[in-house]
This record gives sequence, C-alpha cells and structure tokens, in this order.
Amino acid sequence: MISFELSSEEKDIREMALKFARNEMMPKAHEWDHKGEMPFDILKKAWSLGLMNTCIPETYGGNGFSTLTAVNICEALAYGCMGMNTIMMANDLALLPIVIGGSEEQKKKFLTPFTESFKLASFCLTEPGNGSDAAGITTTFKKEGNNIVINGEKMWITNAGYADLFVVYGTFDKSKKHKGIGAVIVEKERAGIEIGKPEKKMGHRCSDTRGMRFNNVKVPIENLLADEGHGWKVAMKTLDHSRPLVASSALGGAQCAYEHSVKYAKERKQFDTTLMNHQAVQFMIAEMSMKIEASRLLIWKAAHLLDQGLKNTKIASMAKAFASDSCMQITTDAVQIFGGYGYSVEYPVEKLMRDAKLIQIYEGTSQIQRLVIARESFSE
Ligand code: CAA
Repeated sequence: MISFELSSEEKDIREMALKFARNEMMPKAHEWDHKGEMPFDILKKAWSLGLMNTCIPETYGGNGFSTLTAVNICEALAYGCMGMNTIMMANDLALLPIVIGGSEEQKKKFLTPFTESFKLASFCLTEPGNGSDAAGITTTFKKEGNNIVINGEKMWITNAGYADLFVVYGTFDKSKKHKGIGAVIVEKERAGIEIGKPEKKMGHRCSDTRGMRFNNVKVPIENLLADEGHGWKVAMKTLDHSRPLVASSALGGAQCAYEHSVKYAKERKQFDTTLMNHQAVQFMIAEMSMKIEASRLLIWKAAHLLDQGLKNTKIASMAKAFASDSCMQITTDAVQIFGGYGYSVEYPVEKLMRDAKLIQIYEGTSQIQRLVIARESFSE
C-alpha cells in the first residue's frame, strides 16, 4: 500500500521541529552565520527537545525514530538554518557507524551518553589528499598488544573542535585498499590528538570545521569498531543512511528559499504589477515547486527502504544529488527574484545560496552520487 501521508505521530514530530526552526533558529540564523560561532544555546535546546541524535535506538536511551521521522526532523531544522542543522546532523553521521557496526558493549558505552547530556561527535573519513576517493585513506592503524595506534591526518571534520568522540577510519594495510580499512572510536581525551584551526567557509559558517592530526594516538582494542577489511562496508552503509538526511537538509533550505520567493513575488511591484504576474518569475516559482516536491518523494523513498531493511544505495544517491542540485538552483533563483536586494546580506536569500553550495559537496559530491547511481544501474 502506497501512502504519501505521515502518521499522526510523525506529523506531530515534524510540526514540533518546524516550530522550533521558525521560532528559535530562523530569527538567529544570520547573527550566528555572521559571528561564525557555534550557537550552543540553540543546539542544547534542540537536544532537550529530542531533535538531535535521531539514529540512537530506544535500547540505548534514544528516541528510536524511524529514518522517515529522522529525515522530516532534518528537513525542518535545515529550514531553520542549514548551518545549524549541519552541526546536529554531523552527530548522526558520527554515531551511525556505531549503530550499524558496534558491539552491544560499544553501543551502551558510546551511544547512551549522547542521550543523557548534550554532546557532539565527529565522523573522520576525509583526509587532505582523499575526499571522493575515500578508499585511498592513508591514516594508519597498527595493533600493538591491547592497543591500536593511530597516525595520520583528517580534513574537513565537522564539529572537530567541540567533539567528545571521533569515529576514525584508517588502514591496517594500504596495499589492500578497501580491504585494509578499519574504524575505531576515539575519545577526545586520548593523548596525541591535535585539532587544527577553524576553517573559514563560504557558508555553514556557524558550524565548526577543522583539520586534525593523530600522532601515535593509542586506543584500547575495545574501541575497535570495525577490524581490517570491515571498516569500508561500515562507512558505505553509514553513507546510505546519512545521505537521505543530507538530502533533507537541502530540501529544508530549498523550502525556505521558495517561501521567501513566493512572499516577495506577491509584494514587489515592477512595471505596475507584482512580480507574481510576470511569467519569467512564475516559471521560476513553478520550477522550484516541482523540484521540492520531487526531492521530498525521493528522500521519503530512500528513508522508507531503510526502514523496511532494504538496500537503498541507488535511491539514497538519487535523493542526495537531486535535492542538493535542486537546492542550489532554487536558492540561486531566489536571489534572482529578489534582484539587487537578493545580493544584500540584509535580506535572507544570499545566505541560503551560500549554504546550498556545500550540500552539493559534502557526504559525496553530486558527481560521486551520479557515479554510484550509474554503477548500481549497470549491476542490477
Ligand atoms: N554498501 C555496501 N557495500 C558497498 C557499498 C554500499 N553502499 N558501496 C560500495 N560497496 C562495496 C562494493 O560492493 C565493493 O565490494 P567488494 O570489494 O566486495 O566488491 C567495495 O565496497 C568497493 O566499492 P567500489 O568499487 O564502488 O569503491 P570505489 O573505491 O570505486 O568508490 C565511492 C566508491 C562510492 C566512490 C566511495 O569512495 C564514495 O562514496 N566516495 C565519497 C566519499 C564521501 O561521501 N565522503 C564524505 C565524507 S563525510 C563528510 O562529508 C564530512 C562531514 O562532516 C559532513
């Protein structure tokens, strides 16, 4: 049975998240973007409402949300501010590998604290020399007695400056490529972790992004999340889960740009009539509306497949590529509709356009998503 309706519980959660986005995030989005600092009061409020760490199952103290509920929360939070949402969504990206690949002990030990107090986490896959080619990572893991010793550098790590724990990917044997990769959980207190300075970015400025270095960092073998050869599959399965979330963040940003555009087109007059009466503007609004609707359907399908325990790799990549490319187009057109005012920081849409760009890049570029879609298409 196909239904395009959310259940009443899902609707309530979506409404609650949207209310939070409208009342708490949206009014402060520009201020924090301008400051380039983490909005901790807002983040802590979101946490206390249960809007963070959506991937943690009930057994470990979480809300046990379905993926469909999680994508709806993510869309709502990104509607409030794509930058703030990145901070919160990065927790799910970092905790998902533990949900997917962790042992019972690891889940209890590392997930539950995130449900007891506000904490941040980071997913450490990307390196200065390896972004799209994730299997080319050079960070090394070496077993020494009861420890794993980590050496290497990571780049573009969201939340790195404030994270309580890091999920780090490395290789036990680089010559084995994917089959040499493992994953470990590293607490922030471990000696030898060097955190870089915050990166200055085009958008998502309130989120913390840094490079980091692991210098002979020793963690006990109990922190080994995925042994040699298993880390890659955990990383790929994590991305299958997290890409629908990233797609929803693009959708939230697109919805926000669309609503601003419709409102402005109803108010602004040129040639003795409002913009909404000009076909050039009508077509842009129609295009926005189509893309938003189509993005939402792809995202819901990608989430639904996961909730059914089915493979969603292809649809997740479709959702991620389509929603993020649409968000870029929609926010660019929103600036166009606002004209000169759209280019001004005094108006809301230029920030949306800057924020949209990153979503085409992180968690797999739009080109990598197309590569995944093509490979899946040829292997069906
Ligand atoms: N699930 C399970 N297994 C998978 C899989 C999936 N989704 N995708 C691939 N695999 C398996 C393949 O079946 C293959 O298995 P075998 O060796 O048994 O045959 C193996 O993994 C290797 O797969 P590929 O040949 O497809 O690997 P590849 O090296 O050619 O590249 C890629 C695959 C899809 C391009 C991958 O490198 C990729 O996703 N790159 C983008 C990385 C990315 O998204 N990084 C984002 C980092 S997070 C971030 O952005 C930071 C932040 O803070 C927001």
